[in-house]
Amino acid sequence: MFNQEIDYVDAPPLAFAFDIDGVLLRGPHVIPAARRALAILEGDNPMRKKIPYILLTNGGGSSEEARCQKLTAQLGFNIHPLQFIQSHTILKTVAQDYADRPVLVLGGRNGEVRKVAEEYGFKNAYTTLDVLAWNPAVWPFHTLTPSEQQSVKSADFSRTPIAAIFVFHDPRNWALDIQIICDAIQSGGIIGATPTVQHVRPSGPRRPELFFCNGDMLWKSDFQRPRFGQGAFRVAFQAVYESLTGSKYPCVQYGKPTEATYMFAKQVLRDRFRDLYGRVSVKEPHVYMVGDNPESDVIGANAAGWSSLLVRTGVYDPRQGPPAHVPTHEVEDVLEAVTWAIEREMQS
Ligand code: G3P
Ligand code: MG
Repeated sequence: MFNQEIDYVDAPPLAFAFDIDGVLLRGPHVIPAARRALAILEGDNPMRKKIPYILLTNGGGSSEEARCQKLTAQLGFNIHPLQFIQSHTILKTVAQDYADRPVLVLGGRNGEVRKVAEEYGFKNAYTTLDVLAWNPAVWPFHTLTPSEQQSVKSADFSRTPIAAIFVFHDPRNWALDIQIICDAIQSGGIIGATPTVQHVRPSGPRRPELFFCNGDMLWKSDFQRPRFGQGAFRVAFQAVYESLTGSKYPCVQYGKPTEATYMFAKQVLRDRFRDLYGRVSVKEPHVYMVGDNPESDVIGANAAGWSSLLVRTGVYDPRQGPPAHVPTHEVEDVLEAVTWAIEREMQS
C-alpha cells in the first residue's frame, strides 16, 4: 500500500477528522473499509506513529461517553470522548447561560436528550413528551407510549416560562414538536397562553431563543436513498411558522458546516494532538476531513482551511452529477482517503 518507509522523530505532520454516517457507518452497519483505515492511524503506517484523529458527526441523541462505548465496540478501536464531537457537544459551551432557566430539549428517543442536557449543565430541561403528559390536548393525535410515559418529568407549563428551545437531535415526532415549538414562541414561553401582539414582535420581550444542532437536509443510513435529517425538520417548522406569522423565526444553527462547530473541532483536535504528542509541533498539522456530504463535510472543511476528502459510500453519489462543493480530492471510501492523504504528506 505504501511504497516507502520514513522515520519520524516528532509528531506526524497530519491529522484527520472523520464524519460517521456514510463514512464509517451506514445505519447500524460498519462500512468494511473503516476498521482497516483506523488500524492505519493507530500505528500500522510508514511513520509507525499514531496519527491523531477525531470523529466529527452531525449525529447525536445520547451522551458522548455512551456513543463512544458503542463506537468502540463497533469499530474495534478505542474511541475516547475527548476525540469525539457530535451535533450537540458544542452546547456544553452554552449551557451555563441557561443553567437555571426552563428550556425545551428536542430530538431522539424517549427524552434521552434530557439526560444529555442535564450532563451539560441544563438544570431545568423539559421535553415535548413532558408537555404532552402535562396536557394531552396540546396534541390530540399522539398518545404517549409506555416507554415515553416512563421518560416524562411532571411540570405545570402554564407556570413554566420556556427561555430557550434546543433541538439536540433528529425529532421523532415532527408534528408534535412543531406544534409545541410554535406554542412556546408565540406565547412568550408560556405554552397555552394567549399569544399577544407583543409576543410576535422580534423585539418583543421574552421570546424563547431557538437553537438547531444539525442542519443536514439529508443523511445516509442503511436505506438505499438518503433520509431526511434535522435540517428538513427546521425547514418544515419555519414553513408552518411563516404561514402563521408571515415571517421566519430567528434561530441559531450549530453543527457542520457552521464555523462555530469547526472552530470547536479545531480546539478538540489540538488537544488530542497534545494528549498524544505533548506540545504540538511548531507547524500545525495538515488536517484532512473525510466526509460523505458536500453540504456539511466538504464546504465546512474547505472553509476551515482543512483538506476535504469526499467518499462515495454515503450521501454523495457521483451518478447524480458533480458535488455541489468541490473537495480537495474524491475517493471511493475512507480507506482510500487515509492512504491517499498519508502518501501525499510523505511526498511533500
Ligand atoms: O443525523 C445524523 C446525520 O445528519 C449525519 O451524520 O455523521 O454524517 O455527520 P454524519
Ligand atoms: Mg455523513
